[in-house]
Amino acid sequence: MLSVQDSLEELKLLADTAGMVVVGQTSQRLNRIVPGTFIGPGKVEEIKETITELPADVVIFDDELSPRHQRELEEAFGENIKVLDRSALILDIFAQHATTHEGRLQVELAQYEYRLPRLTRQWTHLARQAGGGGGRSGNGGVGLRGPGETQLEVDRREVGRRISKLKDDLENVRGHRQRQRQQREKAGLPVIALVGYTNAGKSTLLNTLTGSDIYVANQLFATLDPTTRKTVLPGGKAVLFSDTVGFIQKLPTTLIAAFQATLEGITEADLLLHVVDATHPNLMQQIEAVEDTLAEIDVPRIPKILVLNKIDMVEGGKPDSEKFAGLGYNAIVGVSALEKLGIQDLLQAVEDVMKTTLVPIRVLLPYSQGELLSWIHTRGVVDREEHTQEGVLIEAHLPARAVQRVEQFFESTSPDIEEI
Ligand code: GTP
Repeated sequence: MLSVQDSLEELKLLADTAGMVVVGQTSQRLNRIVPGTFIGPGKVEEIKETITELPADVVIFDDELSPRHQRELEEAFGENIKVLDRSALILDIFAQHATTHEGRLQVELAQYEYRLPRLTRQWTHLARQAGGGGGRSGNGGVGLRGPGETQLEVDRREVGRRISKLKDDLENVRGHRQRQRQQREKAGLPVIALVGYTNAGKSTLLNTLTGSDIYVANQLFATLDPTTRKTVLPGGKAVLFSDTVGFIQKLPTTLIAAFQATLEGITEADLLLHVVDATHPNLMQQIEAVEDTLAEIDVPRIPKILVLNKIDMVEGGKPDSEKFAGLGYNAIVGVSALEKLGIQDLLQAVEDVMKTTLVPIRVLLPYSQGELLSWIHTRGVVDREEHTQEGVLIEAHLPARAVQRVEQFFESTSPDIEEI
């Protein structure tokens, strides 16, 4: 867990990213959350006075507020003061940064799911906007109401309807992505996913590794849509590197759910590069936050390399790798994505780890399976190939997740199959 001060610093950075200027901050140690206003009445008064003095027009809470907290705080602080929490802020940043169709749908869905329980009586424009019926009847949405329904209920129904429509749209887009993935799988190239805390340098590293030109910014969440690029390892094998959304502590659960599809890319990778900013004072907490989120999306046992990035800013150019020894990574490599230092070592480590985590297989492929034969060659390492009367007998090493595709051709004496 981050200290209160560090967490507030991060919140400030989030607010900067969302385009706000932070003019003040405060905190309160609470034994118990106050049901109505979250913080105590004295603190509410203090903040109210500070807002007028500064002046400020938005108050952001680092902890998640219930709809009731938000409402009562807005009432207490007075008109024109907007009360937000970390989740709402992150949603706002995501909305600004999503560039693909799928990214935008995901963010919109997360925003509606966040808003649904927060609908208040003042929030009545929606039915007019969305339903169309209200406009046609010329009475501001009232025409949409069923018998005895309040405007609030109409709004809730409308938001519910939008949520299901967005879910349907997303389903379609995901189907398309799934097909793309299948094609990629067919092409046989191993996929290596870059994960890491926001601003760790994933996009920069992807650029350096693949010579591509992806948007890099010293802002949180510059990348929201995954990008996949091809590169060749020192031994000559082609692989795909894929960037993913940045992680952050207290990532709203609605967002994790909404970005499930993007994160699925991680669960289907053959290897993960966990990129960290080696110069960050809260490095350990950031590693923990990423690992926690990975645990939440149920990432199976994928080999992982810890990439200590930004070593150009580390004194002596060498980070203290020892510190991370017990964390279960298959390798630890220091690099500077920006200054292109340690990149060959990283590629070598990728190759080595991929090799050592391959699973031995022994298959007998009928001669009609020529395509599968070349797939095994691209996907893994072939140790022995023998042409027999029944087909081609192959002993090879494949990534664990690729084994399934050849399972039906296992030769009866296949070694270690139970372990897969
Ligand atoms: P999100 O999109 O927020 O997840 O960020 P990211 O992890 O993709 O980080 P990005 O590549 O956008 O880099 C964030 C900032 O760190 C940028 O200002 C980069 O220029 C900087 N940066 C990345 N790698 C290095 C490095 O090796 N050394 C130094 N000094 N800065 C770096």
